[in-house]
Amino acid sequence: MKPVISISMLSADFAHLDRDLKAAEAAGADWLHVDVMDGHFVPNITIGPDQVANFRDSITLPFDVHLMISNPLLYIERFAKAGSDIITVHLECEDDPQECIDLIHRCGCKAGVVVKPDTPVEAVAPYLDAIAMVLVMSVYPGFGGQKYIEASTKRIETLKKMIGDRPVRLEVDGGVNDETLPVILKAGADTIVSGSCLFKGNIAENIKRFRQCF
Ligand code: DX5
Ligand code: ZN
Repeated sequence: MKPVISISMLSADFAHLDRDLKAAEAAGADWLHVDVMDGHFVPNITIGPDQVANFRDSITLPFDVHLMISNPLLYIERFAKAGSDIITVHLECEDDPQECIDLIHRCGCKAGVVVKPDTPVEAVAPYLDAIAMVLVMSVYPGFGGQKYIEASTKRIETLKKMIGDRPVRLEVDGGVNDETLPVILKAGADTIVSGSCLFKGNIAENIKRFRQCF
């Protein structure tokens, strides 16, 4: 599985979103990680499908849309229409994950499931044959710039074994930096989300340094 760097827009300057997202693209990010928060599933609010559609026009990177919302079934279609490529839903949301996965597929996108740090990783097992990616949160969702939770490493290793030879990506989100990245990669992750570390200073140099760990 080719390693992917999915840059999180959460750390961009929202007053200059177009400028920052174009800079991330020019700097060599592989995907754009779009953090959607509803103020209910997590104690923070970000953007909705209309805003995603707005910046879809000027960014060609695949959109990796992380739905931190309580009722994804109500919004999947709109995020798909807004230009998502892959949509991930939390197993802890209020809707049935399989129904979400099926709807994401009907909308023409790839589907993934996400687990918060306290959810046993075994909970993804029933969905592994139906999805393109598992996302494991290595911080409690809601905010950028948090510290990597050490116990995540073991969880990544377990998920890697569970995935086996299925064509399923293993994405890690939260607290990725120059110290934690080698550990995360060694544990088996192939898809790396990073916001605060990549947006700090020179994005191209940061991405280049990350790639040297692959
Ligand atoms: C947190 C978000 C993450 C966040 C990562 O709820 O899902 O995508 O932006 O930010 P950093 O890389 O700063 O930990
Ligand atoms: Zn995220």
